[in-house]
Amino acid sequence: MSEDFVLELEHIRKEYPGVVALKDVTLQLRRGEILGLIGENGAGKSTLIKCCSGAVVPTSGKIKINGKEFDRMTPQLAAENGIAIIYQEFNNVKELSAAENMFLGRPIRKGITIDRKAMEAEAAKAFEQLHIKINPRELVKNLSVGYQQMIEIAKAIQQNAQVLIMDEPSAPLTNNEVDAMFEVVNLLRNKGVSIIYISHRLEEIFYLSDRIEVIRDGEYVDTLITPNATEDQLIQMMVGREMTQKFPERKPCVDESKVVLELKNVCGNGDKNMSLKIHAGEVLGLGGLVGAGRTELAQVIFGAKPKESGQMFLNGKEINPKTPREAIDLGIAMLPEDRKRHGALLGVSIKNNINMPTYDRISKATVIDLKTERERAEKYRKEIQIKCPTINQLVKNLSGGNQQKVILGKWLAADSQLIIFDEPTRGIDVGAKYEIYKLINELVEQGRAVLMISSEMEELIGMSDRIIVLAEREMTGELKKEEFDANTIMAMASAIVDQGK
Ligand SMILES: Nc1ncnc2c1ncn2[C@@H]1O[C@H](COP(=O)(O)OP(=O)(O)OP(=O)(O)O)[C@@H](O)[C@H]1O
Ligand SMILES: [Mg+2]
Repeated sequence: MSEDFVLELEHIRKEYPGVVALKDVTLQLRRGEILGLIGENGAGKSTLIKCCSGAVVPTSGKIKINGKEFDRMTPQLAAENGIAIIYQEFNNVKELSAAENMFLGRPIRKGITIDRKAMEAEAAKAFEQLHIKINPRELVKNLSVGYQQMIEIAKAIQQNAQVLIMDEPSAPLTNNEVDAMFEVVNLLRNKGVSIIYISHRLEEIFYLSDRIEVIRDGEYVDTLITPNATEDQLIQMMVGREMTQKFPERKPCVDESKVVLELKNVCGNGDKNMSLKIHAGEVLGLGGLVGAGRTELAQVIFGAKPKESGQMFLNGKEINPKTPREAIDLGIAMLPEDRKRHGALLGVSIKNNINMPTYDRISKATVIDLKTERERAEKYRKEIQIKCPTINQLVKNLSGGNQQKVILGKWLAADSQLIIFDEPTRGIDVGAKYEIYKLINELVEQGRAVLMISSEMEELIGMSDRIIVLAEREMTGELKKEEFDANTIMAMASAIVDQGK
């Protein structure tokens, strides 16, 4: 009669000072299934799954594993009961080897010494089971993010996890790494592991999951059987309203008489012969595969990496920013893709983060204008809907997507001529994506220029006025709006540049 659930969360509530992260959420994971868990940024997905590992202690509610009830979890109890979690921002120790990371905090011992050989052998065994090629002795810092994640998965296997919970595992990965991760996930499902998979990318949820649970604002909405669900239906359940359009209307505003940025044969940071123009009021999309050299180009423009040759002009004046500080002062802003490393200062408030690039502008003789500081932060909190109790909240206590919005607010406040967006909506939910697109539209309607790097074809086509495609560190094509076509862009992105021409 009763179904076979490995994991059940019943009426989970979690309060933080000033925030109720979870009001009353229930989740049931069937044995051997993949359950997709979706919801907007700040809906409570990460908090919910942290209750399963003991990383977060719920204010009230029950957790059942194989029918056995627990009032609260501890990391040790969770591990003993076969629950493993791969966190949104996984914490490994970069200076240690793959094997050492797998056995972090629970090394295999021989007498009183650590048995490195045994750990390496066990690690090798787990990697082999997952068909992944990692040398157990390799230092984690030398491995790509994809491999670092594989180590976390292998760790779960080595601990014989029955339940694997993955919090936005695809967000930091390249396309190839995502494919490899999917293979491993399917392999685990076939071995009988039950999986909770969190993602903002609905196509992944459709591809992998058996059922989909939606939560909104800390509350349970519904659980659907995947083949019966549609994308529109899920979006409506997440956002709580119907979304008829993905991309907001933009008034035509490209001013071809005003070139904001021009590059002439720029080489540097591995990129070769980059020549392009961006006009006032224009969104120039930069397409290409991961590794094509798009972020590298942005770093050169932003003064983060040296230009080796060629020329750059901003509003007709030659520029040579040597540092990001110089670029910011010239009127260039950049929203980087890796928010944790380059984007936000996690230990300080939303207010401080938003005002960070411009403190010198709102200060008189080193005294900060506190009113302006507050007003600006409030303005962007409202405009881009940063979900927080107050602007004094520390950024590290925000959900992942809301951290991204703070970074966005910071650069919008900086009043720049040219704004470079590197994957602006990665890890951002559908509703907030629309808001970010609206802001990009506002920026260009005000006459600013935008360079947008995006790996999402739909976004590239939906938002750009013109698209330039890179492949292997060179420009392989340029398309006007009327020429936009996903196949053409893909062909250009995978083009082998003919060196002879
Ligand atoms: N330690 C904390 N202190 C205060 N508030 C917190 C803390 N951790 C989370 N919150 C709040 O709880 C809410 C839910 O956050 P959570 O990280 O679970 O969202 P999420 O659904 O995972 O979002 P995302 O898709 O952006 O990762 C957010 O409003 C967040 O600001
Ligand atoms: Mg999260």
